Order: sequence, then structure tokens, then C-alpha cells
Amino acid sequence: LPDAQAIGEWAADHIARRLAAGRLQVLGVATGSSPLPAYDALARRIDGTGAEGSAEGGAPAVSREALETLTAFALDEYVGIEPDRPESYHAVIREEVTEKLGLDPSRVHVPEGAAEDLEAACRHYEQLIADAGGVDLQILGIGATGHLGFNEPSSSFSSRTRVKTLAPQTRRDNARFFSSEDEVPLHCVTQGLGTIMDAGELLLIAYGEHKAEAVARAVEGPLTSMCPASIIQWHHDAVVLLDEAAASKLE
Ligand code: F6R
Repeated sequence: LPDAQAIGEWAADHIARRLAAGRLQVLGVATGSSPLPAYDALARRIDGTGAEGSAEGGAPAVSREALETLTAFALDEYVGIEPDRPESYHAVIREEVTEKLGLDPSRVHVPEGAAEDLEAACRHYEQLIADAGGVDLQILGIGATGHLGFNEPSSSFSSRTRVKTLAPQTRRDNARFFSSEDEVPLHCVTQGLGTIMDAGELLLIAYGEHKAEAVARAVEGPLTSMCPASIIQWHHDAVVLLDEAAASKLE
């Protein structure tokens, strides 16, 4: 697709159609920059219902009712950052997803990275996803390291939600959300690759040249835990949305 905006529109159309068809009860959401145009495009479709059930310009509309009953699960959270801190993924999801889309906050879940017993919190998160009937559609970004969620290179393909150490490259990349790189936590809680692979459909979004290498390794490289995102090749229903720059290293 030509650019991030077009990717966001494509993703929003797809999500809107699944919602309208009653085929989306549980949405997996990612933080970071990549999905933001999709969340914005989706927000613009809310209640844009015209006579033909479409928003302005013919794009599929999204009803408020469908969003109010939608359950959402975030992929990850930093360890040790309280949920009310602006850098926390709790705060990001609240602002960019829950509020923007008018979701019911009690149906939006983010791993508890500030829990005292992190192992118990991880088990509980897996249980919450299972109790919701599993994720129907998972939105994903990809890190320069090839990570999905915060599953850094060498993550087990069958891993479940757990504590991980962030790669130095990821801490550098995410320093832009903190006052300095030293402030970026060393650890995170992330859904495992096994957890992500259980989703009914994957929608991976990447744009910009800095993603080209990781995208090429994920889409055309060998299946290897050294590029965790290469596991998408094994998923039965994975869509990869790219701009020209992110696609530039594909064969
Ligand atoms: C975020 C997440 C990460 C990001 C990835 C890309 O919840 O799980 O895998 O999707 O680091 O980040 P951006 O989109 O900021 O380039």
C-alpha cells in the first residue's frame, strides 16, 4: 500500500467488515506507532452509518453497539511501570484504543507488569484470554529485532504470556517514549508466540524503511526463533500490510 494512512484505512475496513458480520468479538491490540493510523481510521468510521450502512466515502461503518461489547487484549506491558504512568502501555491503550473507540474499559485487558506476583499475573492473563473464547483478530507491529509483542530473538515458538528481557535495540527504539534510554525498563510481560499464534487471524502492520530488514526476514527468511516474527509463516490466516519502504527488501 502507498503509505501508513492507506494501511490504516485497509485495516479499519477489514475490522469494520468483520464487526458488521458479527465475526469479531475479541480483538488483540498492539501499542507502538504502527497501529495508530488503523485506530484513528476505525474511530472515524464510528456511527458514520449512511443509508447504505457505509461511512463517508463508502467505507464500511462501525456501530457503537459492536464496539461496546468488544473485548480487547493488549500484547504486552513494561515491568515495574505503574498503570497510571503515561509511558505504561495501560495508559497508551486507554488513550489510543479504549477512549478513541469508545470501548467498555472493563472489557479491555493489559498484562499487569506492576503486579507483585508476575508469574501469577501471567497465568491469569492467559486464563482471561481463554475465558473470552480466544482472540479472533490480532493486530501486530514488528520490531527491528524481528520481535512480535515483546518476544525478542530466541523466544520459544510455543511460549505463553511471561516475563521477558527487552533487547538493547528495542530499548533504544522505545527510548523516544521516555525521557532517556536509561528510563526504559529492562523487562516486560508479553503474550508468548504460542499465545499470539492461537489468534484466529493475524494482521501485521509495518511501514518505513527501518522495518524493511525485519519484514524480509519475517516473510521470506527461514522459520527461526532468531526472527520471532517468522512464525507468522506458519499461521493459517496472516495478513501483512506494508508500505513500499517496508516492502523494499522483499525478493
Ligand atoms: C507493542 C508491541 C511491539 C511493537 C513493535 C513495533 O505492543 O508489541 O511488538 O509492535 O515494537 O513498534 P512500533 O510500531 O512503534 O514501530
